[in-house]
Amino acid sequence: MATVHTGMTMSLDGFVADRRGGTARLSDPAASSGSAYMNALIRETGAVVMGRRTFAMAEDPDWFVGNYEFQVPIFVLTHTPPPVLPRQDERLTFTFVTDGIASAIAKAKAAAGEQVVQVLGASVVQQVLRARLADELHVDVAPVLLGAGLRLFDDPDLESVGLKKIGVREMGECTSLRFQLVK
Ligand SMILES: NC(=O)c1ccc[n+]([C@@H]2O[C@H](COP(=O)([O-])OP(=O)(O)OC[C@H]3O[C@@H](n4cnc5c(N)ncnc54)[C@H](OP(=O)(O)O)[C@@H]3O)[C@@H](O)[C@H]2O)c1
Repeated sequence: MATVHTGMTMSLDGFVADRRGGTARLSDPAASSGSAYMNALIRETGAVVMGRRTFAMAEDPDWFVGNYEFQVPIFVLTHTPPPVLPRQDERLTFTFVTDGIASAIAKAKAAAGEQVVQVLGASVVQQVLRARLADELHVDVAPVLLGAGLRLFDDPDLESVGLKKIGVREMGECTSLRFQLVK
C-alpha cells in the first residue's frame, strides 16, 4: 500500500513563501532537478496531491507534462476545477478533486500503488496532518529568515498532532527533518 509523505521547504523562521508568495530564496541547488536528492524523490513518488495555489505556481498549466519533476498522476484540490483539463500524457494525468482531502488522498494512494504519495501546499499539508492521513512529515529547513510570508504550521488544531523523529539529513544548505506521525 502507498505511504503518504507531506512537507515543504521552510525558512528558519517558519515560512514556505515570502510576503509576495515567492519561494526563490528557499530553493537549494542540492534539491534541484538532476540532484541526487531529487532523483531519489522522483524514484519513490507514485502520485502527488497539491492545493490549487501550488498548482497555479506554473503560469502555464500545460507546463507540467515533460517539465514537472514528478511525471505521475497529480490530484489538485480545488472548489472550482478549470473548464479545460491541462495537457496530460500516459504518465502525468490531472484529477481535480472537490470533495475533500480524504478523497484526494484515497484517489492518490490508489494511483500510487506501492509508491509514495507526496502532499504539497501549506493549507493541504495542514489538512493532511489534522486528518491524520499522512505517514511522514518532511521539512527541509533553509538557512534563510524571511521575516513574513506564508506560515507552514499556522493552525492551532495542529497542537494535538504527535510526531516521532525518524531522521535528520544534510541536503546542501538545508537541513532535512523527517518525522513519523504518531496515530
Ligand atoms: N516552500 C515550498 O516548498 C513550497 C512548495 C510549494 C508551494 N509553495 C508556496 O506555497 C503557497 C501555496 O500554499 P497555500 O497554502 O497558499 O495554497 P495551496 O494549499 O497550494 O492551495 C490552496 C487552495 O487549494 C484548494 N483547496 C485546499 N483544500 C481544499 C479542500 N479541502 N477542498 C477543496 N479545495 C481545497 C483551494 O483552491 P480553490 O481556491 O481553487 O478552491 C485553496 O484555495 C504558494 O505561495 C507557493 O509559492 C512553497
